[in-house]
Amino acid sequence: MIQSIGVIGSGLMGSGIAQVAAQAGCEVRVRDTSADQLVKGRASIEKSTAKLVEKGKLVAADRDAALSRLSFHADLAQLAQCDLVIEAITEDLALKNQIWKELDSLCGAKTIFASNTSSLTIAAMAVATRRADRFAGLHFFNPVPLMGLVEVVRSVGTSQDTVDQLFGFVRQLGKEPVAAKDSSGFIVNLLLVPYILDGIRARERGVATTADIDTAMKLGASHPMGPLTLADFVGLDTLARIGDIMFEEYRETRYAPPPLLRRMVIAGLFGRKSGKGFYDYSKEPPVPVDLGL
Ligand code: 3HC
Repeated sequence: MIQSIGVIGSGLMGSGIAQVAAQAGCEVRVRDTSADQLVKGRASIEKSTAKLVEKGKLVAADRDAALSRLSFHADLAQLAQCDLVIEAITEDLALKNQIWKELDSLCGAKTIFASNTSSLTIAAMAVATRRADRFAGLHFFNPVPLMGLVEVVRSVGTSQDTVDQLFGFVRQLGKEPVAAKDSSGFIVNLLLVPYILDGIRARERGVATTADIDTAMKLGASHPMGPLTLADFVGLDTLARIGDIMFEEYRETRYAPPPLLRRMVIAGLFGRKSGKGFYDYSKEPPVPVDLGL
């Protein structure tokens, strides 16, 4: 049974993964390069667990116990003894592989490595290590504490034992695992990314306003969020990067980031995280941004 977890990256996804693992009773060591980012990661976990307590979804004593199981480190060597290390940094293969290489020499042979990549190839990371049999994908969804799914990605070299252990771990977290092959976007992003990009294309072509596109999909298809709100939620820079990687893999135009998305990223409109994207989040409720369309 997996009991100690290392999480690389304390951004939105990394801190969410660390939180749910700590809530499930695991000892969790979070690593990030800057002390500033580690402080932000801890604060976001404190905020999220406080919200869960406030909503009656988590008992205060369990929250305190979960927080006590978390520790934050700048030194990668602090993760050497973990049963499982999950990486959740930016979608940059060279950067990821630099970390995997270093970790491979620090960790014992039994430690399983898993990447939370949403679009990169797992095999391209496994080759940076000498443990391809113990290397897989574990793809979580945002917001991690609320979303029930985790994709367990088996690559060409991943052993069945590793897959079985990861299925057990995901269930330990109270989430549902699904098995996916090492194919860019796996299941969810393969279907979701072209849908969000089509929402942006509809806006670009002037089919409807930002608010109406979102309302249409919320009320007409019972989606919890419209595609443009979801784009802001995922992060427009992240979405463009995922689209580029998937286009590179499949050479299908439906994965290609539309020009409007590229212009918005160039202009620093990253969505919710930068305060502005399709909506302006300085207002409550957020209001559509005039994009000059
Ligand atoms: N921790 C704790 N609480 C949180 C939270 C978090 N991380 N994030 C949000 N909440 C809170 C909210 O603040 C809200 O509290 P409030 O009611 O006091 O304001 C509460 O949870 C949930 O709000 P709602 O009751 O309004 O619940 P919703 O029914 O709106 O659910 C949602 C919110 C789950 C985010 C829902 O809107 C949803 O499912 N949206 C779609 C999300 C989605 O598609 N995610 C996948 C993105 S793709 C991805 O992640 C893959 C990647 O590779 C790109």
